[in-house]
Amino acid sequence: MPSNSIDSLLHESRQFPPSAEFAADSIAKPELYAEAAADRVGFWADQARELLHWHKPFTQTLDWSEAPFAKWFADGKINVAYNCLDRHVAAGNGDRVAFHWEGENGDTATYTYSELTTAVKKAANVLIDLGVEQGDRVAIYLPVIPEALIAMLAVVRIGAVHSVVFGGFSSESLRSRIDDAAAKLVITADGGWRKGKVFPLKGAVDGALANGTSTVENVLVVKRGENDIEWTDGRDTWWHDRMDAASAEHEAEGFDAESPLFILYTSGTTGKPKGILHTSGGYLTHVAFTHKNVFDLHPETDVYWCSADVGWITGHSYVVYGPLANGATQVLYEGTPDTPHAGRWWEIIQKYRVTIFYTAPTAIRSFMKIGRQVPNEFDLSSLRVLGSVGEPINPEAWIWYRDVIGGGKTPIVDTWWQTETGGIMISALPGITSLKPGSAQVPIPGVKIDILGEDGTRVDPPNGGLLVVSEPWPGMLRGIWGDPERFVETYWSKFSSGNTWKYFAGDGAHVDTDGDIVLLGRVDDVMNVSGHRLSTQEIESALVSNHIVAEAAVVGAADEATGQAVVAFVIIKSNQKDANTADEAVALLKKHVSEQIGAIARPRQIFIVAELPKTRSGKIMRRLLQDVAEGREIGDTTTLADTSVMQIISDKLR
Ligand code: WTA
Repeated sequence: MPSNSIDSLLHESRQFPPSAEFAADSIAKPELYAEAAADRVGFWADQARELLHWHKPFTQTLDWSEAPFAKWFADGKINVAYNCLDRHVAAGNGDRVAFHWEGENGDTATYTYSELTTAVKKAANVLIDLGVEQGDRVAIYLPVIPEALIAMLAVVRIGAVHSVVFGGFSSESLRSRIDDAAAKLVITADGGWRKGKVFPLKGAVDGALANGTSTVENVLVVKRGENDIEWTDGRDTWWHDRMDAASAEHEAEGFDAESPLFILYTSGTTGKPKGILHTSGGYLTHVAFTHKNVFDLHPETDVYWCSADVGWITGHSYVVYGPLANGATQVLYEGTPDTPHAGRWWEIIQKYRVTIFYTAPTAIRSFMKIGRQVPNEFDLSSLRVLGSVGEPINPEAWIWYRDVIGGGKTPIVDTWWQTETGGIMISALPGITSLKPGSAQVPIPGVKIDILGEDGTRVDPPNGGLLVVSEPWPGMLRGIWGDPERFVETYWSKFSSGNTWKYFAGDGAHVDTDGDIVLLGRVDDVMNVSGHRLSTQEIESALVSNHIVAEAAVVGAADEATGQAVVAFVIIKSNQKDANTADEAVALLKKHVSEQIGAIARPRQIFIVAELPKTRSGKIMRRLLQDVAEGREIGDTTTLADTSVMQIISDKLR
């Protein structure tokens, strides 16, 4: 089982202290912890001043008077794009490479900080010409191509708000996100390269806007796939035409530190994804600080690569904002790890002499399965720091990552955080911490984490409990777009009382005997499939929206490769005519879920059943279904309204 179990981790005794050379040259100094402990708020103010350029300096650091709605650096003014671009050019680093981009089909492009600044200034003028104003929302639905970063930075440069939608989401998912944020503009591409083929994007945008009631006025289209697309005159416009005509002059204005920066939708426990809102000054402080210290970034010499898609929070914080704010040189890659051959990622590391590499455990496990002979063919000796994110990394994968990819010498930082936290919250600092496989270990300086029992009291090691953040932090979400009540209810109602506010993360964790934090997975109805967050209820809603389905229950079952996998139990209506056999029904429903949400939500298995296990009050007992899906002995069924149901289901599946 890939996720951590308390037993195996209690016995984890291997420790990897930093080498003397690494520690000597470490960006993070051990004093950070003491400084942050002495004055947490003042510590963040120092970081904000040191790491960022302020158009107008702030005098207030944290305003928590309307908790849980936080304000950081509220009277300061800042331009996030200026911090990621112009100031590096002004400091004489315009010729430094901002990124080397590698298309899946072999196309490449390199942008220096000056070239990127010019491109973003032009794109800002394109947006202004299209009527985008401060505060307007712009949906971005693009592959990992240079224009994705240029578009995001152009939007924030003019004070507008982006909502990036992962290119693997379906037209339906895109539609609901566009509508929820009432976007004025969509930026997309004709298509992108994936698994050796062009996958269409523009068609999904057309579908999302087809009902004609959308708030979207224009669709700006990047040419990438060269695939045929439909064109709506008056609405659709080519990116390259607009960029060619745009002026390269644009002066960045400072906006209030609390002005909205972006919305990013993520799955929660209910059917509808929530628009997580991040604002400018606090978010940028948090991601710049963590990117620099957690990855030990030496911007003059390092080549950094984070394999995440820009459609996820990891792409926002550790492809776009953190690295660019720090003036890093990075690598961007458009496609899948195995195209056109199984060593593509290692070839990229060799080609660009990547020094810092950040990826997800699910990718590492899939490489383990193929075997070390593939990475062994490449020269990976440039690597000096490895990172992991998205799900617990099992000690076996941790050790393999260090030995096979890191040549038995690189530190590995296991970073725990969420879309909502904006940036990394729990992680080792590689020049300071003695590393332990399978544990994210310690909160970063300036972050306060506790592990509580259901009753809100702290649990003693080594018992497990629920992970909370006990003090506000600069990168924290500022709300759920359009739904302040849901924000308070979801994150702040479980453990807060009076004036004490505790953020409930939805993860289980325990502290081991060394005081290290070990993450144990989600405690709610959120699944983690290949490091992607999916909601069981969202997939259930997608299933029952098909008219052949009477009822559906979805569970996340442990899966060797993907961490968890989607397994659905479905009751088919007796009077439906669309599927003649169970196999037909399963195929039809897998396709339906892909269309409703996206291929990432497609169930690994769908079982057609006659009944679902329910309590007397009608609640589906997913725990029992999970036992079946994971091939375990079925747990206690005494609370079921009909205790024979589980027997029938499990007999049928055997
Ligand atoms: C899980 C991704 C264990 C966790 C940045 C969290 C992790 C959810 C780790 C957030 C880790 C992320 N160890 N679990 N290092 N990193 N998670 O919003 O369950 O896509 O709540 O953010 O991923 O997923 P999200």
